[in-house]
Amino acid sequence: MKSTASLLVLALLVPSSLSAVAAVPLPPAGPPPFPNSVGGAVPAPKPPVAPSPKTPVPPPPGLAVAKGGKFGLPVVNLTDRQKADFTAGKAEFLNIETVEGGLGPIFNDVSCVACHFEGGAGGASRTFVTRFGRVTNGVFDPLVELGGPLLQRRAIAPAFLEVVPREANVVVHRMTTPLFGAGFMEAIADETISAYASVPKPDGIKGRVALVTDPVSNTVRVGRFGWKSQHATLDAFAADAYLNEMGVTSRYFPHENAPNGNINLLAKADGVLDPEDALAPGEQKSDLNLAADYMRLLAPIPKLPPTANTMRGEIVFSQVGCAVCHVPSLKTGFSPVAALANQAANLYSDLLLHDMGRLGDGIAQPPAKANEMRTAPLWGLRLRSLYLHDGRASTLDLAILAHDGEAKVVRDRYSKMPLADRQALVVFLNSL
Ligand code: HEC
Ligand code: HEC
Repeated sequence: MKSTASLLVLALLVPSSLSAVAAVPLPPAGPPPFPNSVGGAVPAPKPPVAPSPKTPVPPPPGLAVAKGGKFGLPVVNLTDRQKADFTAGKAEFLNIETVEGGLGPIFNDVSCVACHFEGGAGGASRTFVTRFGRVTNGVFDPLVELGGPLLQRRAIAPAFLEVVPREANVVVHRMTTPLFGAGFMEAIADETISAYASVPKPDGIKGRVALVTDPVSNTVRVGRFGWKSQHATLDAFAADAYLNEMGVTSRYFPHENAPNGNINLLAKADGVLDPEDALAPGEQKSDLNLAADYMRLLAPIPKLPPTANTMRGEIVFSQVGCAVCHVPSLKTGFSPVAALANQAANLYSDLLLHDMGRLGDGIAQPPAKANEMRTAPLWGLRLRSLYLHDGRASTLDLAILAHDGEAKVVRDRYSKMPLADRQALVVFLNSL
């Protein structure tokens, strides 16, 4: 991304390329209007307006609970070398990509932190991305030849701007997830997740591992990151985000996205040699690896100290059946970072894919089927103000009531519980 030779080429193609970024009018805040914004299996609900990252989201009323300290800190017990990696990685996570560094031609934002910022660099936010596809006779087509399945909302010049194609009949929004504790999630052994998948579960709950080919190691691994457990490692997710959110190619994803799939347009648009994020001579890590280091070494959000009410809520959580999917703790295995190895990761997730029925997003993203979603980890929930993949729930009660499919029995049990138990459960969730 620090390519200089390409500057000239680009300057010829895109005059005053930098100001072109600023010149492109941003689509209005919130998802753009679509002609066919009806979901396949699920009608795509209209998510709340996503404010621009520049206007910080005020904490929701009623959530004035002590948030419990300072976040965005490194994992404890790191070596000096690892602390330096954290600092260098953070700089990369905050770094604003430029056109001559490889940004675009189409992209969603200019830095990782532009979307991941609530509670500190790496947090979640109400920033949405748009996915689309077409369902015909129950078969999902990601419309790759038309620029699918992810919409890039900005471009380095107006001519390259993407739109949701008319052919799309599934259009959904996905909210930005938090990265606190991601290194612990990465250090959970594949076997640990697989072993839990084969444990028989009550209430019609199943859950299956998302087997993915990790582009970094080129091996089949158990996915765990993203709403659909679509990646197994942080380097892979970082490479994916560099390409799909910022238009920066790498050795793992060397091909640019063509604007709405138009190869001819791409040929005119992209003046920077691929891969844009290349290894410098003699270096072991490129920028994507540095960003992955930051996420890996980013501490989880610690639980608030227990109170009588949270303890009651925790019992309800387990009795009503939430803990079958939202498994409170998984043990990490080996990690090259000693501080991450053989630790309890209190993430409240089994990291498995569950058929969530009407709560699924209708996007088949192999290996996940249209209505399969990863059990969302719940650590750090108190820093959040909107819930579920498309942000359809503004309260925890609504988030629980929107559960469906494999979670239907548990949801119905929750809805019949005495109000005091429901409230204690919410208090517990807000202590995570
Ligand atoms: C335009 C907004 C945007 C930008 C820019 C962005 N992300 Fe994200 N990020 C998201 C969204 C939305 C998701 C959820 C995506 C999904 O699962 O489909 C996500 C999810 C993730 C996850 C998965 C975490 C989990 O829940 O398991 C990782 C890791 C991640 N992003 C890393 C990065 C890195 C590294 C960068 C910079 C190279 C980056 N992101 C830039 C919006 C963004
Ligand atoms: C069958 C497995 C399953 C059960 C049982 C279950 N959940 Fe979930 N939960 C999920 C999945 C999958 C998601 C992600 C949904 C999505 O993608 O929108 C989720 C999401 C959530 C979220 C939103 C998190 C976020 O990041 O926005 C909350 C809160 C939550 N669950 C709480 C609960 C509680 C409380 C219970 C018990 C009453 C429960 N869940 C029972 C699977 C389950």
